[in-house]
Amino acid sequence: MSIAQNAKFCILHFAFCIDMIGIFDSGLGGLSVLRAVRSLLPNHDLLYLADSAYCPYGTRPQAEVQARSLACGRWLVERGAAVVVIACNTATSAAADLLRANLPVPVVGMEPGLKPAITATRSGQVAVLATNGTLRGERFARLMERFAGGAQVVTVACPDLVDYVEAGDLTDPQARAAVERYLTPLRAQGVDTIVLGCTHFPFLLPLIADIAGPETVIIDTGYAVAAQVARVAESAGDGPGKRGLHCATTGDPAEVAGSLARVWGQPLPLEHIDL
Ligand code: DGL
Repeated sequence: MSIAQNAKFCILHFAFCIDMIGIFDSGLGGLSVLRAVRSLLPNHDLLYLADSAYCPYGTRPQAEVQARSLACGRWLVERGAAVVVIACNTATSAAADLLRANLPVPVVGMEPGLKPAITATRSGQVAVLATNGTLRGERFARLMERFAGGAQVVTVACPDLVDYVEAGDLTDPQARAAVERYLTPLRAQGVDTIVLGCTHFPFLLPLIADIAGPETVIIDTGYAVAAQVARVAESAGDGPGKRGLHCATTGDPAEVAGSLARVWGQPLPLEHIDL
């Protein structure tokens, strides 16, 4: 490449990067957060990284989730992200502090919406559906101490629900049977508020809402996270962009692309990266 071409590349690269928001998850679940971010910030470039080769995070040791999260965060920053969003409760629990200490850009994380659930419940019985990693983390223990109050909070690890979303099987009879298995005992014990404490679960919302019944309140923090991203992106000096949406995966793109299209509702171009 000549110097002139190189200079042109740098200018284009800079223009592409200036308002980019980087978002990552272990896999496709973070697309539920991406959807919310896109609706609040329609003029920003979004770069989504699915760490599919290492999905799920929820059953991995904390140190491994930390290493993967740092690798994903660094890659997004190298690609020009001005803000990094950890669109994953498990990765936030394991690695938010690490990313904030090591990345040169603001980092937005997320946690199960226990606080709004405690406000919403009438029966005083709340359930949090999440991964093993999130539920055994110190962050979740602190959340319980701060917000559980007098309510009865049942925690339910649902690792197989992550698998159904990764496979794009959102209406599969087996997915329905799994949701029924989790929710039936909760209904029987009077739970009236369910927290979706994993970003994969909003994609199963039609199933969850149907089985939980219309009287059950379901809490998803995707839009609250997006509102925080909007505040941070504006204070990071981002301007109107080109509304680009770029997706990358560490997994096999041929496999991931099919699930991604089913989860997102339409196919999206997908780049493979080694990380
Ligand atoms: N989507 C993720 C979360 O919010 C994690 C799923 C997984 O990889 O286990 O916790």
